[in-house]
Amino acid sequence: MDFELKTLAWNRLHQEKTDALVVLVDEHFTPSGDDALSRLAGGALRANDFEAKAGRLLPAYRAEGIAATRVLLVGAGDGSARSVRNAVGAAVGALKSPRVAHITLHLGGLRDLSAAVLSAAEQAVADASYVYTFTKPKAEASALKRVTIGVADAPALKGAHAVAQATVAGVAFAREWANRPANHSTPTLLANAATTLGKAPNCKVEVLGPKEVAKLGMGSFMAVAQGSEEPLRFIVLRYSGAAKAEAPVVLVGKGITFDTGGISIKPSAEMDEMKFDMCGAASVLGVFKALTTLKPALNVVGLIPACENMPDGRAVKPGDVVTSMSGQTIEILNTDAEGRLVLCDALSYAERFKPRAVIDIATLTGACVVALGAVRSGLFSADEALAQALQAAGESALDPCWRLPLDDDYAEGLKSNFADVANIAGRMAGAVTAAKFLQRFTAKYSWAHLDIAGTAWKSGAAKGATGRPVPLLFNYLLSLADQGVPAPAAKAGTPAAKKTAGKTTAKAGG
Ligand code: BES
Ligand code: MN
Ligand code: ZN
Repeated sequence: MDFELKTLAWNRLHQEKTDALVVLVDEHFTPSGDDALSRLAGGALRANDFEAKAGRLLPAYRAEGIAATRVLLVGAGDGSARSVRNAVGAAVGALKSPRVAHITLHLGGLRDLSAAVLSAAEQAVADASYVYTFTKPKAEASALKRVTIGVADAPALKGAHAVAQATVAGVAFAREWANRPANHSTPTLLANAATTLGKAPNCKVEVLGPKEVAKLGMGSFMAVAQGSEEPLRFIVLRYSGAAKAEAPVVLVGKGITFDTGGISIKPSAEMDEMKFDMCGAASVLGVFKALTTLKPALNVVGLIPACENMPDGRAVKPGDVVTSMSGQTIEILNTDAEGRLVLCDALSYAERFKPRAVIDIATLTGACVVALGAVRSGLFSADEALAQALQAAGESALDPCWRLPLDDDYAEGLKSNFADVANIAGRMAGAVTAAKFLQRFTAKYSWAHLDIAGTAWKSGAAKGATGRPVPLLFNYLLSLADQGVPAPAAKAGTPAAKKTAGKTTAKAGG
């Protein structure tokens, strides 16, 4: 889909030639002009045939004095990013027709058009018009090919538009790979997808196989993979947008391309949804798609341990003890608690990057779904500043998370008589005990964990990946790039200090 940002004055809207002119108006809006559109909107508002409440729609067809074939007045309520997202979603949904290929979406009727609101509008268009076709080629692709976004001052929003476009591309990439069935997104195919991202300038991708992973001593990761015919892959992505000396943020994504539970096998009902157990990995790929699109000034590393969790004659068994890359031994009491087993070795690998922060993203526990449902992802971090930054990034990207505790008392149940640690604790607080397990492998850096088991995909009739938490993560990364990083030892006036001064992201404004 092509998005274009364009300066459009309200009194010229009626001249716009487009299949559908979609005009958002918030509660502050009062039409004052004498053009055809002002008359239409004013008349409907006065007659109480239309209200600016979020999601209200008033369609018109071949309206007198209006060049667009269809007009859709859309209420945007208080004009917040959330209301705008819902309003645009409703509008694009209502315009699904093979005859609507070009929409002009006018946002000039909103009092406060912030970067967050613009991004919400663009994301909503993309979400509402996404159609999965990879293994359903006859599915009717969206007829919508072109979206013109009308604003009062396009140059002022150019930077925000670039950020929004990168986010849209990142979410789409994550969604697509997460949706592909497990036989079409094996560890090898996931690694190939990463490799295509590595073709972009500033991005390098390295893929390790079973031999290299064995050499690294990733006994915990290998234990999960050993029951599958599909060879494991350890994917390392590097985005270099800043000076080499700048410490990277490391993102670690759980890449279980299918989770049967292994010998601790899951019930059959809804087991198909365990193809989504690589949504953490997909979100890392999505963030790299966004990074290579926008090219902000920061360094990011992505790590993806990818494998299947299968029952087999060679599969790991309950009670088996394995040695992780960290040297800690792990008693695998439940082979279905496999996410933490692949993540812990990736977290140890992350140490070599001397990271500024490490964030792992995982569809880790059913307990997190029980705690927070599909609204907020679970956030765990002992680093106050990191937790707050991630929480804030989630709020403004409409991709929210909620912090859960990490008290050491929660780790009691992980004690083992046969190893340094067990991979499960009791029935209680399962999302927290999983996080406590991971925390044991993160002593060397600042760390946060996002449990996205409830937010990464939808079940039921709307079954499919959401692309979350790409918006949260990308927004967080851009907030770091905005701050820039002062060169550690350089005094004012030295060449190093000059080089760093005023360094911000590639985005202008926003
Ligand atoms: N991938 C699952 C978590 C999951 C389950 C996500 C359902 C979304 C929906 C994970 O590997 C798992 O099986 N976790 C177990 C852990 C338990 C054995 C301690 C769980 O949550 O039941
Ligand atoms: Mn599992
Ligand atoms: Zn799993």
